[in-house]
Parts: sequence; structure tokens; C-alpha cells
Amino acid sequence: MVLISKLSLTLLLALAITIPPLSQSKELKETYMSFYVNDYSAGPNSTVAAIAGIPGKQWTVTQFGTIYITDDPIMDNPDPNSAPIGRSLGTYVTSALDGLILHVSISVVFTAKEYMGSTLELQGAYKHFERRSEISVVSGTGQFRFARGYATFETYSWDPNTAHAIFLWNFTVLHYHSSNTNNMCGDHWV
Ligand SMILES: *[C@@H]1O[C@H](CO)[C@@H](O)[C@H](O)[C@H]1NC(C)=O
Ligand SMILES: *[C@@H]1O[C@H](CO)[C@@H](O)[C@H](O)[C@H]1NC(C)=O
Repeated sequence: MVLISKLSLTLLLALAITIPPLSQSKELKETYMSFYVNDYSAGPNSTVAAIAGIPGKQWTVTQFGTIYITDDPIMDNPDPNSAPIGRSLGTYVTSALDGLILHVSISVVFTAKEYMGSTLELQGAYKHFERRSEISVVSGTGQFRFARGYATFETYSWDPNTAHAIFLWNFTVLHYHSSNTNNMCGDHWV
């Protein structure tokens, strides 16, 4: 009897700490998105900068331990002069001893159009010398609440004269769609 009541208590506790269910109108859905990330790595208007590294070593992208901070404008088309729909904010760290992998920790913050006010969180191992690399999407907010999935990173174009790279990031994410598009607070909390 004692064993049974202990088990039921455990069961009750497990039920009690379950995340509150989402409202019926919400269903897990899959979304595909392609974005063009404009990265300027030199000049007065650089959007990426090395901020730390191993003392005595050059702070380069292939040197283990180099940390970069970035704020790249994101467009929904390949034209770098079009209006940004968001920013890629975060850090890249050269985390492989041989310099072939960067640890990515990026927030995609949407500032315009259909995803305005929502964010996606990217974290993973970026094999930056491979033509295409996959990065995990670990979470999100707003329209991307409970998001998970992945993004492919590839270089769309590179101009060595202006140090301007355009990266094509394709996202595949599962998330709960919120019809309350621009509401950062979240409709089931208000
Ligand atoms: C940097 O940005 C400023 C302000 O937008 C602009 O006037 C300037 O031409 C830019 N410089 C370069 C080198 O692109
Ligand atoms: C990303 O999507 C574009 C179309 O938007 C496509 O041309 C490209 O091949 C895709 N890249 C990957 C790695 O899936």
C-alpha cells in the first residue's frame, strides 16, 4: 500500500508540473524561410568584429579562441540595398583547434514584415569551409514560440574588394503558430 501511494504521489506531481497546455487553436506547424544575411567584415561600417582571442595570437577566423560579435542586416531577397526584415545578433567563436568549426550563438530578431517582433535562436557548429553547413534552431519567441529545427548556411556571394558577404540561410522550423503576430507578450499570458 505504501509503495502504491508513493507511486501515485509521483504521478500526481508529474501531472502537476506539466507545462500548461496551449489553447486549442494552436497546432505545431512547419515553416520554411530563406533569408539573405549581409555581412561586412572590414571598413567603417563593419557588421562583424573580432573582440577577443588568445593573447599573442592573431585574432582571425581560423585561429582557435577568436571571438566575433555580429550585427548583420537580414533581407528576404538577395538585394543588399533592400529594406532589412531583421538582424542577426550574436557571437561566433572559433571553437575547433584546427579552425574549421565556429560555435554559433545567434538571435535572429525580426523587425519588419510578417515575422516582426518574433525571434529565433540559433546555436551550433558551423563548418564554415563547407559549401553548406547545418546549424540547430533551439528556440524562438512570438510566432516561433517553442521553435525547434535547423538552418542551412551557405555563401551566396562574396566581394573581396568591399569585404561584403551575403549568406543564404534556409530555415526549417516546427513551432506553434500564433495568430497574434506582433504581440511579444504572448496571447495566453494576457
Ligand atoms: C558607412 O555608412 C555611412 C552612413 O550610412 C555612409 O555615409 C558611408 O558612405 C558608409 N561608408 C562606407 C565605406 O560604406
Ligand atoms: C535555400 O533555398 C533556396 C531557395 O529559397 C534554394 O535555391 C537553395 O538551394 C536552398 N539551399 C539549401 C542548402 O537548401
